Amino acid sequence: MQSHPITIAIDGYSSSGKSTMAKALAKAIGYRYIDSGAMYRAVTLYAMRSGLIDKTGNIDVNALVAALPAITIDFEVSGDRQYTILNGENVEKEIRSLEVSDNVSPVAAIPEVRHALVRMQQALGSEGGIVMDGRDIGTTVFPHAEMKVFCNASAEKRATRRYLELKAKGENVDYEAVLANVLSRDHIDETRKESPLRRADDAVDLDNSEMTVDEQNAFLLNLFNSITAE
Ligand code: DC
Repeated sequence: MQSHPITIAIDGYSSSGKSTMAKALAKAIGYRYIDSGAMYRAVTLYAMRSGLIDKTGNIDVNALVAALPAITIDFEVSGDRQYTILNGENVEKEIRSLEVSDNVSPVAAIPEVRHALVRMQQALGSEGGIVMDGRDIGTTVFPHAEMKVFCNASAEKRATRRYLELKAKGENVDYEAVLANVLSRDHIDETRKESPLRRADDAVDLDNSEMTVDEQNAFLLNLFNSITAE
């Protein structure tokens, strides 16, 4: 049995159910959960509000990089819910909008943005006992994580999940737009120069296209138990 708390990295494609399973695992084992995507979304929202991204999606990269030291991101936990706090303001709802989703991948491709957020993520996980989900957690943020999972599902399944999620929140969206967003984010995430979305060599694959939430939670808990029992 490992006596120290381990580090758990859950990476994968957008809307592959990473956050749901990472959150459930963290709760089950009493670890802290960090949604690294929320941090990229918060920086994107900051840029949009500051006029650093225009209507056509052009980013004033120099101005955004200069503004990075003025951006603080925290997480607040209340019961089962976790809120993303941008410079003291709860922006959990705003960062999940389709507008932010449309702009976030190009922002996440800016090397200086990645460096700043990776540093924050490493500080958050410096003591272990953490489940972090994202795209580069097992490859770049915590390359020595004891447990790494790479999650995938078909683009159509993922778009359907995102669509239902947005509808449930009262957003007026159409399925084709959500699918286009999923595909375009996959492409940008996989092809960016700086730490692209890539499966770590030592990650365990999890394709949950045909799995229920309970099944994927059980899969992760078994994996955790087998790793910590070693
Ligand atoms: O997981 P998500 O959909 O909330 O992530 C939002 C965007 O942030 C996504 O386009 C990829 C990017 N991202 C990243 O580049 N690296 C991470 N560790 C997490 C997210």
